[in-house]
Amino acid sequence: MPALSQSVSLDRRGRVAVLTVDNPPVNALSQHVRQGLHDGVKQAIADRDVAAIVIACAGRTFIAGADITEFGKPPKEPGLHEVLALIEASPKPVVAAVHGTALGGGLEVTLACHYRVGDKGARFGLPEVKLGLLPGAGGTQRLPRVVGVEKALQMIVSGDPIRADEALRYGLIDEVAEGELAAAAVTFAERGVSEQRPLRKIRDLDAKLAAARHTPELFANFRKSVARQTRGFRAPESCIKAIEAALSLPFDEGMKRERELFLELLASPESKAQRYFFFAEREAAKIPDVPADTPVRDVKKAAVLGAGTMGGGIAMNFANAGIPVTVVEVAKDALERGLGVVRRNYEATASKGRLTPQEVEKRMGLITGTTDFNAIADADIVIEAVFEEMPIKKEVFARIDKICKAGAVLATNTSTLDVNEIASATGRPESVIGTHFFSPANVMKLLENVRGAKSSKTTIATAMALGRRINKVPVLVGVCYGFVGNRMLHQRGKQAEKLILEGALPHQVDRVLYDFGFPMGPFAMGDLAGLDVGWRIRKGKGEKSAVADTLCEMGRFGQKTGAGYYRYGADRAATPDPEVEKIIVDVSTQMGITRRPIGDDEILARLLYPMVNEGAKILEEKIAIRASDIDVIWVYGYGWPVYRGGPMFWADQVGLKALRDRMLEFKRATGDPFWTPAPLLERLAADGRGFTQS
Ligand code: 3HC
Ligand code: NAI
Repeated sequence: MPALSQSVSLDRRGRVAVLTVDNPPVNALSQHVRQGLHDGVKQAIADRDVAAIVIACAGRTFIAGADITEFGKPPKEPGLHEVLALIEASPKPVVAAVHGTALGGGLEVTLACHYRVGDKGARFGLPEVKLGLLPGAGGTQRLPRVVGVEKALQMIVSGDPIRADEALRYGLIDEVAEGELAAAAVTFAERGVSEQRPLRKIRDLDAKLAAARHTPELFANFRKSVARQTRGFRAPESCIKAIEAALSLPFDEGMKRERELFLELLASPESKAQRYFFFAEREAAKIPDVPADTPVRDVKKAAVLGAGTMGGGIAMNFANAGIPVTVVEVAKDALERGLGVVRRNYEATASKGRLTPQEVEKRMGLITGTTDFNAIADADIVIEAVFEEMPIKKEVFARIDKICKAGAVLATNTSTLDVNEIASATGRPESVIGTHFFSPANVMKLLENVRGAKSSKTTIATAMALGRRINKVPVLVGVCYGFVGNRMLHQRGKQAEKLILEGALPHQVDRVLYDFGFPMGPFAMGDLAGLDVGWRIRKGKGEKSAVADTLCEMGRFGQKTGAGYYRYGADRAATPDPEVEKIIVDVSTQMGITRRPIGDDEILARLLYPMVNEGAKILEEKIAIRASDIDVIWVYGYGWPVYRGGPMFWADQVGLKALRDRMLEFKRATGDPFWTPAPLLERLAADGRGFTQS
């Protein structure tokens, strides 16, 4: 095939010129792709023997968007707009042939074509919003003209792709291809030429916009419907504004407005953070000493030990992924209780219309409950989720060591115990690893995989691959108390407690974190998780927490008892409680603390800087492989707002020198060694570097 650039070639099939993009892995619109498309279309237009043009892709997918690595660098000619204008203005019909995913700039390429043919499995979307952007090559102007304003709003603001059948229904594609895609697209193009079908330029369509002009309240309603999930993000509102422009302005003016809004977003801190995070998430899959081709164990059957809060949720993950799972409990009643909760969870999902009753039964059918440990003999992975006590864990691991087949991965869901000590209870520590799920385990995306000193590469690779298969985001960490996430959270918790004793109130502290972008603050989170959990742990260790202990002694365990740091009504809405305020003030007095007003800025710094400092220690101890892994953990495990990148990225934006200096100020003011900056933080601050951009 004659090559036009390093990634685009031009081929002829009868009267049809076929331009094929081949830019692995995802055919992103790098400069040479744009150049190749530009030159190819020009050449085909000039060639008198060519009657129509097909744009297709080699490899696993159609064009998945602009090349994100080019963002923020000086633009290189030709620009995407120029290429799209050339395609749309072509006097010969241009047909896009889509397989895999046509995303972002990729879908925009197809929208500049006159027709679109899609493979049965193809998906179509404008995911720019997930990068803090909006579709910047006409997507906000063309998509509503094709699928209607409401559908365009939904697709562009959610960023979620739709499938070929839905795309056909909405007129986004003209045909679902049967058989070989390129051949089907060529036939489609040939037919168009024979029938002298007029060129359909989306820019000239108005019917679907006109329909929406009669319902101007549509935008206000849409804004209201997405307010909750888009809180704090910048891009969704810009997406909506750009679509409004499609209705109120002529096409070329609308394109200009889209461009302005796009450039604003491109320069925004939110988009910078979200683009950073896109790569951070993918980076987390890479483990320097466990190469991508490390053999993994094929998990055909799984087992979970313990059907409590975590065990049930973990089992659901396997069933959701179609993997049969055996759940083992000590007693029949505990087993029935646990599986009952699982069934109720599925039925709740079904009642919201997100699962059919048949799917509920199918998933329940993949879960087998038993009290017989021998039933796990043929499992490829066993995940232990029994009580958090070392003697029990060791006894369980010694037992399963005798039962499980050779090569099976033996995983523990411990949240605080030493994985190496647990592994030592077996004769095969190389097969042991921590798989730390987050509660609720069937919902939370994060999976902290904890590498023991002796975990083998295959064990690690299997736990990582399995994490992805059950739709989690796995991040590999090392053994230490609390691993990465909870270890950092603990530092935040210590300051939260101090802040309320020094003068702040729980709702002020919580509001500061909520306004920062967290779904909730530490006190609301404590109430949700149950204050009795920490109380029991403290009692075991002989530790105290004056306010929390008093609340627990009063039976205020949080949401489950209708009261904790807050009071809860029937709707589970939290209301600040004067009774709690009095307890806090009394404790301050007893401790000889003079309460003072504390500003939001101090609250934020005192809650978040210690986390960053702990993150620095974690990095230095090599508990996390890289700073961006810590960020992935916080975004997926603790609700850190993704538009702030994660704690380590955020710290870099604050500036490590400023952060270190503020810590030293706190240290001077309190004399508390807690505020001693970690050596890595000191070094980076002194060198003017950052955690994520050193
Ligand atoms: N630019 C540059 N690199 C990209 C990329 C892009 N648009 N999309 C993916 N990649 C890279 C990834 O970083 C990864 O690199 P690595 O192997 O070195 O880690 C590699 O391609 C494979 O990606 P995934 O691991 O994500 O592969 P999957 O098969 O799981 O997923 C995908 C494929 C669904 C295409 C997914 O990569 C994806 O969602 N990509 C981003 C799509 C997107 O956001 N497009 C819009 C871009 S912005 C735009 O188009 C602006 C325009 O409106 C002007
Ligand atoms: P849980 O108390 O709700 O459930 C534990 C279950 O294990 C009980 O049903 C119990 O009957 C069963 N069990 C006890 N000994 C057993 C044995 N020898 N064999 C089989 N089953 C046995 O506890 P939860 O909260 O589910 O915690 C389980 C593990 O997960 C602990 O290690 C915990 O630290 C960890 N974890 C808990 C999180 C949470 O939010 N609850 C979060 C992350 C990890």
